[in-house]
Amino acid sequence: MSDDLFNLKIGNLSLKNPIALASMGGITDSIFANEFAKDAGLVILGGYNLDTVTNRAASDIIKRGRTEFISEEPLKLISNELESIKIGGVVAINVRSCSIEPLIEAAEIIKNANAIIEIDAHCRQPEMTKIGIGEALLKNLPKLEDIIHRIKTTGAIVSIKVRANVIDNIKMAKAIENAGADILHVDAMKKGAGTDLEAIRKIRDATRLLLIGNNSVTDFNTAKEIFARGADIVSVARGVIENPSLISQLVKDVTSLQEEIGWYNAPKHVCRGEGDLRGLTFCCLPVKACPVHSNIKKIGLTAKEFADIKMEFAKGTPLEYGDSTCFGSLVWCCKITKMCPLRDSVLETIGLSDAEYMKLKKELADYILNHPKVTGK
Ligand SMILES: Cc1cc2nc3c(=O)[nH]c(=O)nc-3n(C[C@H](O)[C@H](O)[C@H](O)COP(=O)(O)O)c2cc1C
Ligand code: SF4
Ligand code: SF4
Repeated sequence: MSDDLFNLKIGNLSLKNPIALASMGGITDSIFANEFAKDAGLVILGGYNLDTVTNRAASDIIKRGRTEFISEEPLKLISNELESIKIGGVVAINVRSCSIEPLIEAAEIIKNANAIIEIDAHCRQPEMTKIGIGEALLKNLPKLEDIIHRIKTTGAIVSIKVRANVIDNIKMAKAIENAGADILHVDAMKKGAGTDLEAIRKIRDATRLLLIGNNSVTDFNTAKEIFARGADIVSVARGVIENPSLISQLVKDVTSLQEEIGWYNAPKHVCRGEGDLRGLTFCCLPVKACPVHSNIKKIGLTAKEFADIKMEFAKGTPLEYGDSTCFGSLVWCCKITKMCPLRDSVLETIGLSDAEYMKLKKELADYILNHPKVTGK
């Protein structure tokens, strides 16, 4: 397997695959990760409580039977954990603190260990929320933005762990991106049970940040649904306790998919409302009444501008070919998983594999969404 099969980069770090272990306080330490997450592309340890106030809150949580990491020397604990972890993947450390200084000190240590700092804006235990920590940070966006801003001055790579639907998802994603975070880690918990896939799709469309999707993944089918809504990485927590080989299985399956189709988190078509905006890469020439028009409008393009941008990209690439396809060029063709003998015979004639075709479609999606006419930059 090529080390760069997934081409997943964040700052100076490269992830070997898009499967992550998500943090569980009192559980996910280096011993747990070394045993159950050695194949993961990303391992998130913690959450660690960095100051007296959060450690006290964690002690209260333990008193009612939950697990937490508490320590009188949390920075030393983090350093030891970073030294003890023996996996090939990237490491992140999930942290909580009421005061900014321990966050800055932790960020320095974590950055020097080539790891990622993840701020817990997710915890909903009342002991944490009443001291303004965890989910309470989402209800105080200026404070969260200030924390991100100040941690970023250390040069550390910053992930923000959130729960969807606590506040407006789009407002949340944009605030976190504008404050300078690098990664948005979304627990898309759905009322009742399961994953709120629609929340992931909408957040994907609201931000270009590296997106980690999370909640209720127990097998590759559930992970695939989250990938298809635009998550770059899928993380798992409880599923690993239920099935200790879950991470290894997910890594194996996502690797096979990437080798086979070249775009492991390819979007769905936008026709049925399930595809995120990256799905415009699979859209037809915009000549008929269909959802392409509302989606083009969302990114501020006219139908002509959209068509021109796609043709501009296709020029000089194999997507230019395809006289015998519906719209005369592969640039308008569907996702490889949609059966089509017309497209497939063109691919065969020009010697383009399914994976190479999909890689070009991915580049085209990035080209459209990063286009100056779309970003205004
Ligand atoms: C026991 C337990 C402890 C958790 N502790 C943390 C934590 O400290 N920080 C955090 O950001 N998320 C924490 N989480 C949330 C998980 O990382 C994850 O978002 C959530 O469990 C949903 O994912 P899953 O369905 O794969 O378990 C915890 C979850 C559990 C079950
Ligand atoms: S342009 Fe084609 S792929 Fe896109 S929404 Fe319309 S019918 Fe679906
Ligand atoms: S030729 Fe096939 S793949 Fe291309 S647009 Fe038509 S139906 Fe879709």
